[in-house]
Amino acid sequence: MIHLNVQEAAEFVRANGLDGSFDAAFVLGTGLGPLVDELTDAVSLPYAEIPYFPNSGVSGHAGRLVAGMLEGKRVLLFQGRAHYYETGDAGAMRVPVALVKELGIPVLVLTNAAGSVRAHIRPGSLVAINDHLNLSGANPLLRDHTEGRFVSLTGAYDEDLRKILQAAARKAGIDLPEGVYAWLSGPSFETPAEIRMTQILGGDLVGMSTVPEVILARYYGLKVAAVSVVTNLAAGIEGASPSHQETKDTAAEASDRFKRLIRSFVAELSHV
Ligand code: HPA
Repeated sequence: MIHLNVQEAAEFVRANGLDGSFDAAFVLGTGLGPLVDELTDAVSLPYAEIPYFPNSGVSGHAGRLVAGMLEGKRVLLFQGRAHYYETGDAGAMRVPVALVKELGIPVLVLTNAAGSVRAHIRPGSLVAINDHLNLSGANPLLRDHTEGRFVSLTGAYDEDLRKILQAAARKAGIDLPEGVYAWLSGPSFETPAEIRMTQILGGDLVGMSTVPEVILARYYGLKVAAVSVVTNLAAGIEGASPSHQETKDTAAEASDRFKRLIRSFVAELSHV
């Protein structure tokens, strides 16, 4: 069933000017959508027009698919995502992720705004995710009955892509520590006790997205990388009490550095 849906979405996208091949796809998180303004020869489609695409209703998320050129490469940008906390469905991004596979795009880079669980990782920092903790209790592959559901997540955050990210960061003069991202469902922010738990369990960042997309991307055999923009200290750290507004504001402030990192990454990307 899902197979058919994806083919329909792919046909629609191709028929509306987003045809040809792409070097990489990016999902842009809260406040990171302005990367689309960097593209030349951009063509875009609202999610609402694409068959079987989710609605993306959270403020800071535009809900558009944009194709264009960046640093001499052709990229596909998902400006906005659907979340588990909006839909109750951890597989809300299944069709968009499957579309990346269907269009033959080898690399998917997921980006998000995240809280820092470690006081030394300050708001405004960029972090390359190297592993995750799924603390949500949900999984996008629940009720999937294929053999593929038993997907391995060892090495899910592709080592080659992480090396390219590091090289890109060095060239751009940007500090890019690596860290473990903990997914909690939201939409309420965590309690200080939950953040202390996350620290003890080995999390460095906390957020409400990305992990289901990583699981889906590995299910479809895509190479995955993920980058967080740290927008705040997580609940209770130095007395923090995060807000969505703070998240959006800090992501916007870090946006220039984020754009430079992604540009540099795309420039480094040879066909994988
Ligand atoms: N918690 C969860 N999600 C987030 C946070 C946070 O502190 N900041 C940005 N997204």
